[in-house]
Amino acid sequence: MSDIAKWDQKYLRREHGNELTPDPLLVEYSNLFDATHTVIDLACGTGRNAIYLAKLGCFTVALDCSREALRLCQKFAQESDVQIHAVAADLNETRLPAESTDAIVCFNYLNFELADDLQAALKPGGVLMMKTFNQNFLNVNPRFNPDYVLKPSDLKNMFDKLKIVALDDECVPASNTKSFIIARKPARSS
Ligand SMILES: C[S@@+](CC[C@H](N)C(=O)[O-])C[C@H]1O[C@@H](n2cnc3c(N)ncnc32)[C@H](O)[C@@H]1O
Repeated sequence: MSDIAKWDQKYLRREHGNELTPDPLLVEYSNLFDATHTVIDLACGTGRNAIYLAKLGCFTVALDCSREALRLCQKFAQESDVQIHAVAADLNETRLPAESTDAIVCFNYLNFELADDLQAALKPGGVLMMKTFNQNFLNVNPRFNPDYVLKPSDLKNMFDKLKIVALDDECVPASNTKSFIIARKPARSS
């Protein structure tokens, strides 16, 4: 079974994506987003973060490979009385247009190959927020795929064309199972 089919199954069985509370990091740094912004929520799942951004007034694109996740995302958005622009796409096959968005957020999904593309997709001054599992998570869940965890300094190295706003990617203490970066693309010099 393909990865996409596996994710569809999880969402169909409602084994995943029932949490509708936005990530606390997004809430803490919500001042970085405003109603004039286009934001892409990459690998959005059922849209807890996308819906939060839409409530802030952002034009929110919710992208995921699972059509079932997006169906639920649209349903939850409708129930929350906000509009989401859902895009079904496999991030292994998709490239984002250059300088097309004011912000990209990505929670609990990791694809090292996307780093250059994401930096290029931001408009000058645009914000990237990424938070996902790090190597400490393998102690909690040894069956988790080690290809999808961050090592110390991975985020800093991946997004070296951006200016750091906030960073926690040293994987300490060992109880800290996620790393994050918030960073801004430099404004175009005149
Ligand atoms: C752990 S969930 C995270 C969902 C959401 N970001 C959150 O934090 O609530 C990972 C998501 O990545 C999506 N995903 C996995 N591989 C993908 C791919 N190649 N392209 C696009 N989305 C993908 C899955 O469908 C799933 O919704």
